[in-house]
Amino acid sequence: MFMKTAFVAVVAASILTTSAVFAGPTAEVLHYWTSGGEAKSVAVLQKEFAENGGTWIDMPVAGGGGDAAMTALRARVLSGNPPTAAQIKGPSIQEWYNEGVLADISSVANSESWDKLIPPAIAKQMKCEGTWCAVPVNVHRVDWIWANADILAKNNIKMPTTWDEFNAAADKLKAAGITPLAHGGQAWQDATVFETVVLGIGGPDFYRKALMELDPAALKSDTMIKVFDQMRKMRGYVDSNFSGRDWNLATAMVMNGEAAFQIMGDWAKGEFLAAGKVPGKDFLCGATPGGGFLYNVDSFAMFDVKGADKKAGQLLLAKLIMGKNFQKAFNLNKGSIPVRTDVSLDDFDMCAKLSSKDMAAATANGTLLPSYAHGMALRGAQAGAITDVVTAHFNSDMSSQEAVNELVKAVANSY
Ligand code: GAL
Repeated sequence: MFMKTAFVAVVAASILTTSAVFAGPTAEVLHYWTSGGEAKSVAVLQKEFAENGGTWIDMPVAGGGGDAAMTALRARVLSGNPPTAAQIKGPSIQEWYNEGVLADISSVANSESWDKLIPPAIAKQMKCEGTWCAVPVNVHRVDWIWANADILAKNNIKMPTTWDEFNAAADKLKAAGITPLAHGGQAWQDATVFETVVLGIGGPDFYRKALMELDPAALKSDTMIKVFDQMRKMRGYVDSNFSGRDWNLATAMVMNGEAAFQIMGDWAKGEFLAAGKVPGKDFLCGATPGGGFLYNVDSFAMFDVKGADKKAGQLLLAKLIMGKNFQKAFNLNKGSIPVRTDVSLDDFDMCAKLSSKDMAAATANGTLLPSYAHGMALRGAQAGAITDVVTAHFNSDMSSQEAVNELVKAVANSY
């Protein structure tokens, strides 16, 4: 009898151990896609993951732009308990890699030939010392103006193509008692407007010098004075309750006719679409004045976690994210365009097609630029230094000259 009991105990223990080792592909995923359009988009990934036998453990951290999510991520990693995967993008991928905490996903990248499917400039940002350390999800464009079509038609206003045209339209709307610019008073949103003004007033070369190379001459130039002059005008076009407003609530103001314009990345289009609004009919999309293309590529990095189930979850997640089905279904909802170059845009709307056309043109003429406001151009300390000055200026009566002086000092002290 003793032998039988012992044998059963050993078998049970081995089954338990085996089942404990591999419960199927599992992933705890930290992200900040919690608005209407964003949630609808990430649900596409959750569904595909489950359909492929995966167990998705959701770790949403609300807060547009991801600042709160990154704080939560740092706490998890510092406690030695990183999530399986996290929404990390741009140069911060390298910063996390240098901490030695990322997993290598080259096996799936190579077996799926990602190098043939992703634009080289974007593929470069997903690699760490030659290995693949992140998987790209999309290409968002930041430099967009969204407009309520009825308000513009009723006030005989066309989508502005210069900042003078924007100001004239805004002055006309303000005189008619209409809020010209829907805006959320959060630092990252101020930074989003700021970078489109830098691009529009200074042009692509100035944007490169000021917000990518942090060239002190560009930061203290008369052009940067003009940028802050325009930012002061923008402050005069927002409503009195803008402070602290979430970006998607500003989008809702345009949607509902409470404001005419919003300057925001095309995740705002995801909100219009989730509400059943039709581009070209209910809302209009146009590049912010001045041309160029500010890109913002969302991506996920995998953390070096223990457990065959989590490792399998990471590779399944990476494979699905770069899959043709997901690239189409997700981006149709998210407002972005596929990062995978072989996905047809036939079923995408006019704004997406404009984005793709402009991205191709910008790639050809060297005006495809990484968004500083959305973590594509700089490491955290430098980007944060700029944003602190921009939001301080927007929320005070600081002069343009004072802002420029503060900008030069803040950047110099950020290294
Ligand atoms: C961006 C992110 C977008 C969207 C937006 C608003 O940084 O790349 O996917 O989430 O923030 O939260």
